[in-house]
Amino acid sequence: MSVIALGYLGLNVSNPDAWTSWACEFLGAMQGPASPGGVQRLRLDDYAWRIALEPGEKDDLAWIGLEVAGPAELAALRRRLVEGGVAVEEADAGLLAERGVLGLVRCRDPQGLGVELYYGPTQLSHSPFVSPTGARFVTGQQGLGHLALATVDLAATRGFYLDLLGFRQSDMIRMAMGPDSHIDLEFYFCNPRHHTLAIAPLPMTPPKRLHHLMVQVETLDQVGFALDRLASTNTTLTQTLGRHSNDKMVSFYVSTPSGFELEYGYDAIEVDAPIWSMARHDKISSWGHKRL
Ligand SMILES: [Fe+2]
Repeated sequence: MSVIALGYLGLNVSNPDAWTSWACEFLGAMQGPASPGGVQRLRLDDYAWRIALEPGEKDDLAWIGLEVAGPAELAALRRRLVEGGVAVEEADAGLLAERGVLGLVRCRDPQGLGVELYYGPTQLSHSPFVSPTGARFVTGQQGLGHLALATVDLAATRGFYLDLLGFRQSDMIRMAMGPDSHIDLEFYFCNPRHHTLAIAPLPMTPPKRLHHLMVQVETLDQVGFALDRLASTNTTLTQTLGRHSNDKMVSFYVSTPSGFELEYGYDAIEVDAPIWSMARHDKISSWGHKRL
């Protein structure tokens, strides 16, 4: 496989100050160093940053950074993209400095999402991550978390993420949308995290690219403490505590300052790639996750 993790993401947000406050007080993220261009950024671990908060009006996901091992892997992936008909742009010195990485190329996924493939992210081991709430995030080899995105062209999305970038499908969930309708959700992995991308095929482009961002903490208590912080941080619960059928994540969902949701969970299973076989599920959750 070529891509090894979701390393970072850029959000386009109308109020970066409010986002930073909320992410520190509710999520337990740490304010990181601003980018050379002055963009506020958040840390979840020893990476210099994981989430960039670019000022804008969209209040949505703007771009993602997918990590590869090194220059040879980046070159191989770049070749595969070009051969697959994807327009690829080399990063200039300014973009490398802005992201704090050693090498980067960028392109767009079939839905137009900015995708940056990079290696050599900046680590701040001399300034360890300290969460303001005591949260410890499950990152490392598993990347920063997962994203749930929509597509109006599932074949193209599969071609891009599975065939070109080397993700594999972990499983699918047939989610009922009414008595006679359903959506077949697909889940893609690139490391032991059960899925780094959840893809919802929809007939029309939804108002926001991002349905939710998931961050995972190490213990049930950290999930409970976050639930206890809902009132003090003025955070709206959107789905109750529940356990997902496929990755077994115990989580709840809240509304972010940008309106898309954030899943806060723990206890997900990990994929053992050599022996993993695809499954299907008829329910998205074993219990809970009641929409409010
Ligand atoms: Fe999720």
